[in-house]
Amino acid sequence: MARWRYTGNEVVNFVVADDGFQKLDGKIMPNISQILSQTPPAADGFFGEYGGQFVPEVLKPALDELSATFERYRADPEFIREFMSLLKHYSGRPTPVFHCANLSRYFSGAQIYLKREDLNHLGAHKINNTIGQILLAKRMGKKRVIAETGAGQHGVATAATAALMGMECHIYMGEVDIERQKLNVFRMQMMGAEVVSAKSGQRTLKEAVDEAIADWMAHADDTFYLLGSAVGPHPYPRMVRHFQSIVGWEAREQMLELCGRLPDYALACVGGGSNAIGLFAGFLDDASVRLIGVEPSGRGLASGEHAATLTLGKPGVLHGFRSYLLQDSEGNVEPVYSVSAGLDYPGVGPEHSALKDSGRARYVHASDQEALNAFFTLSKLEGIIPALESSHALAHAIKLAPTLPRDQIVLVNLSGRGDKDVAQIEEMVERGEVKPPVLGPVVAD
Ligand SMILES: Cc1ncc(COP(=O)(O)O)c(C=O)c1O
Repeated sequence: MARWRYTGNEVVNFVVADDGFQKLDGKIMPNISQILSQTPPAADGFFGEYGGQFVPEVLKPALDELSATFERYRADPEFIREFMSLLKHYSGRPTPVFHCANLSRYFSGAQIYLKREDLNHLGAHKINNTIGQILLAKRMGKKRVIAETGAGQHGVATAATAALMGMECHIYMGEVDIERQKLNVFRMQMMGAEVVSAKSGQRTLKEAVDEAIADWMAHADDTFYLLGSAVGPHPYPRMVRHFQSIVGWEAREQMLELCGRLPDYALACVGGGSNAIGLFAGFLDDASVRLIGVEPSGRGLASGEHAATLTLGKPGVLHGFRSYLLQDSEGNVEPVYSVSAGLDYPGVGPEHSALKDSGRARYVHASDQEALNAFFTLSKLEGIIPALESSHALAHAIKLAPTLPRDQIVLVNLSGRGDKDVAQIEEMVERGEVKPPVLGPVVAD
C-alpha cells in the first residue's frame, strides 16, 4: 500500500516529510504532484479480465509508441510540472468542493457536496485529460490531432488544447449529436477545429469513435488520437484514468480540509467512465468511502432505450478493449439512448467492469426524467446549472441523501456545467416534453 495513504476516515498524524507530504492547517496532506508520479494500475493493459488491446495489426505500432511515450513521461518531473501548470493557469484548477446547504436541507438527510469540475475552463472535466494527452502529442512531434466527441465537451477541450499548441484538429461527432449540441460545434469551429459529421448507424458517440479509429488507421504516422474517455485499447484506459485522477486526489484533500474526514459516498455519472474513475481513483483504498457510478436508464430499462451498460450488459469487445457491453444474444452491439449526448455509449471503461465484479464500486441508474428533475432542482436551489450528464449523478444523490442521517456526507462529481444543454432543454419545455418541477421552500434546520 502506498505510504501516503490515510487510514479510515481520520487524518493520521505521521510525518514522511521528504516523501511528498506537505502540511496544511496542521494536518499532513499528500502533494498531488508526488501522487501523480506513482504508478497507475494496469501496466500490462488489463484490469482483471478487462481491457487489453484488440486492434488490427496496423494500429499496434501507434499504440506501442503512445504507450512508450506515456511510460517515459508520466512520472517525469518536467512533464508533471508542465501538466500541473496548465491545469492551474489554463484551466483554473484546483476546482473547489461546495457544500449544497439548500439542497441538503430540502431533501432533509445527508450533506451533499459537489466537486466543481464544471468550473474548469470550457466547463467540464474533459480538459484534464486533453491537457495530459496534448503534452504527450507535443513530445511525440505530432502536428495533427483527431478526437471523437458525444456532448461536444471533449471536442471543445481538444480543439482548445490543439489551438494552444498550434496543431491541426479534426473532431468526429455523430450527426444527431451535432444537432443536439450546436453551441459546442460552433465553439470547436471558432477554435479552428474541423467538425466531421459521423453519418453511419445511430449517428451518435459510437459512430464518432468508429470514424475516428478509421482516420487513425489511415494516418497513424502523423496523427495523435486524443481519446476522451477511459475506454479504448491499452494504454488509453490507464492513461486517461491517470490524467483524470487529479479530480479524486484533489477532492480527497479538500474534504479532509473542509470536513476533517472523508465522504461516506462518492458518486459520479458513467458514460465511458472518465470522470467517475478520476473521482474514484482518490478514494479506492479508503474502504469506508462507498463508490457509486450512475448510468443512464433513459426512457426506462424495460423500454430498451437506455445506455445502462454495467446494469444490463455482458462482457464483450468493442473499440479495441474488453469490458461490459450492451449486446444482443448474437454479440451485436445494441443501440443506445440517453437524453444526454455524453452518456449514450454501449461500452464502458474496463476498470469499471473490474470494480463492478469485485464489488468495490456499485453501479446504479437514473432515467431521463430523474436527471431532468435534478437539473432543474440544482439550478433552482443552488444557482448552479449542471450538465445533463452530471445531473444523472445528482439524481441518485437526491434519492440517496434522504435515506441517510444528517451527519453523513455524499460527494457528487459535478462533471460539467449545463450551458451546452440549455437550448435543448428549452425546446423540450416548449414542446411540453418536460416540465420543471414545482419546488417547495427550503426549511431551515
Ligand atoms: C459533462 C460531462 N460529464 C460526463 C461525460 C461522460 O463522460 P465520462 O463518463 O467519460 O466522464 C461527458 C461526456 O461528454 C460530459 O460532457
